[in-house]
Amino acid sequence: MKILREPRELNELSKILLENKKTIGLVPTMGALHIGHSSLVKQSLIANDCTIVTLFVNPLQFNNQEDLDKYPSTFENDFKLLDDLGCDYLFAPSTQIMYASKPLIKIDFGGLDNVLEGEFRPGHFSGVGVVVAKLLNMARPTNAYFGLKDLQQFLLIKKMVEDLSIPVNIQGVPTVRATSGLALSSRNLRLSDKGLEVASRIYVTLNIVAEQIRNQKGYTTALELGADFIEKEKEIKVEYLELVDPNTLKRPDKNIAEVAICFAGYVEGIRLIDNLYLRQD
Ligand code: PAJ
Repeated sequence: MKILREPRELNELSKILLENKKTIGLVPTMGALHIGHSSLVKQSLIANDCTIVTLFVNPLQFNNQEDLDKYPSTFENDFKLLDDLGCDYLFAPSTQIMYASKPLIKIDFGGLDNVLEGEFRPGHFSGVGVVVAKLLNMARPTNAYFGLKDLQQFLLIKKMVEDLSIPVNIQGVPTVRATSGLALSSRNLRLSDKGLEVASRIYVTLNIVAEQIRNQKGYTTALELGADFIEKEKEIKVEYLELVDPNTLKRPDKNIAEVAICFAGYVEGIRLIDNLYLRQD
């Protein structure tokens, strides 16, 4: 696998690939890779002639300096994991190169960025939008892969690409979980064994809510039962447990076919998110 450090190199690579009618798969990441990320890379390898993974811890999307400073960095492991998978290129630029001049642009997602994650992380999605737009412009991929674990991120990127007519297919990849049910996340590296066990109750909670909905309970009752369960877990500090229409990110006022049950909270001071998508025909 080749490493690229400069946007110019990525641009040139993309130009040659497109001239030769090759399809390009792009997998944007912030590193500290795990098998959740591998799943995105594997999908890209299957569907494209060339797969490019990007590794860049984007300061623009962190609204908490400490979170940025403590973001895990495991470059050698990341390189090996990608190389073993058969990834073609790794684009790993420095912050100076990515933001040679600090972007002035802010992306406003018309309110979809102020709910759920956006309510607790002001400016976060603008930062995600800017970096993803830059990466898409540098690599001009045919397909770009995003995890449904970050459901709001996936929806907002899809909307951005549509609104700006960026010629790329945004592909959503299902959440990969540990056997305990805990959604894999780079942040899990900072949890103790006890913390990992406690955090697995997040998935249990999401399933409690889902089960109530399957049993035709109203959304409010379903959420209350989930909240009762998770509130007993003193080591979990809940930020939100919400049930939304995945298109509007608002709580539906009547029963609808598709809903997403979304969670964010802290375990051992580490912020974790998860969601469960539910479809009833
Ligand atoms: P990062 O947290 O590194 O995640 C990179 C991609 O992997 C995202 O699309 C995320 O949704 C996906 N992912 C993470 N954990 C997953 C899991 N357990 N199962 C499936 N997919 C998973 O998300 C970001 O980076 C950044 O915001 C980024 C899009 C790179 C922009 O900076």
